[in-house]
Amino acid sequence: MDTKIFQLSEIDQAAAAIKRGELVAFPTETVYGLGADATNEDAVKNVYLAKGRPSDNPLIVHVNSVAMVEKYAAEIPDNARKLMKAFWPGSLTIILKIKKHVLSKTVTGGLKTVAFRFPDCQPTLDLIAKAGVPMVGPSANTSGKPSPTTAQHVYHDLHGKIAGILDNGPTRVGVESTVLDMSTDQPVILRPGAVTKKDIESVIGSIDVNHHKVGKNETPKAPGMKYKHYAPNAQVYIVDEGNDWGDVVKWIQQQPFDVGMMAEERILQQATLPMNAVQFSLGTGVKDASARLFDGLRQFDDQPNVKAIVTQAFPAQGLGGAYMNRLNKSAGGVHFDTATMK
Ligand code: TXA
Ligand code: MG
Repeated sequence: MDTKIFQLSEIDQAAAAIKRGELVAFPTETVYGLGADATNEDAVKNVYLAKGRPSDNPLIVHVNSVAMVEKYAAEIPDNARKLMKAFWPGSLTIILKIKKHVLSKTVTGGLKTVAFRFPDCQPTLDLIAKAGVPMVGPSANTSGKPSPTTAQHVYHDLHGKIAGILDNGPTRVGVESTVLDMSTDQPVILRPGAVTKKDIESVIGSIDVNHHKVGKNETPKAPGMKYKHYAPNAQVYIVDEGNDWGDVVKWIQQQPFDVGMMAEERILQQATLPMNAVQFSLGTGVKDASARLFDGLRQFDDQPNVKAIVTQAFPAQGLGGAYMNRLNKSAGGVHFDTATMK
């Protein structure tokens, strides 16, 4: 199958493909999603196949109105309505109890809840309107790899497996939406994103954050959290704020292979880099860094000589919480520390 790149002037064609039950990747403000008609069981099954995604990991349903949520949710609690009003369109995914028999088990991974997201991206809202159906949309990467922030990333992972990609250039936020479970009495953040705990609490008061690490045989709250994630081929090392970049550079120089160095521009400018350092600028500040993180990790996958990647940490507050959550996963929790590294 040829994978077509749809321009923004071709949303009608992309919508027609979705209606036919085909898979079309779509842009959002966070990352690109792999779109299919959420009401078409076969199309949804093909999403799991294309991504190589385990079937117990449920999909987010993308909508372009609260009315669309009402069709599928058993109820929308008042607090959920308040959050929709405050943050939609935007990077907050809300999990609600599902109405019986309205969406297939394939969408929900067999759970009694379903996740809804109203993305802040006009072309995709137009796509949903033209297709006339809600769209499932996991991140449009091969399962386990960093999420795609450009149409080219999607093409790299999924060409030949999907009908098309709606190209809207690089995404603005770069890390996936905050996932908030509102299907229980006490709302809980299952995945941190650009909409922070503080943002949410300013609207509905105190909420919880799920820090629980899931064991092999447990059923996790967000099934996606038990799988290996965002992992490039090379080992990633987190360079904490307390680390001296001079030591990092010295370590790079001693390695017999190339080392990717992902840091803010000011750090790259300061250091005299050894020949085997391959730099990737995270720009300035955590907003730039979040937008660029996945692109950097992906670029090093195309450079087989890069066998390690050192990546700058940021304080885990606000958007930094989401950035550090993704960086930690891509590094498997491994920090730069010359005492323990060889
Ligand atoms: O920003 C985003 O959210 C992107 C864009 C494309 O919208 N989408 C995305 O989808 O990141 P995905 O499938 O890669 O991640 C969704 C996460 C997974 O960890 C999944 O397990 C969890 O949300 N999830 C989905 N439905 C759930 C449910 N009913 N209960 C608990 N967790 C759920
Ligand atoms: Mg994903």
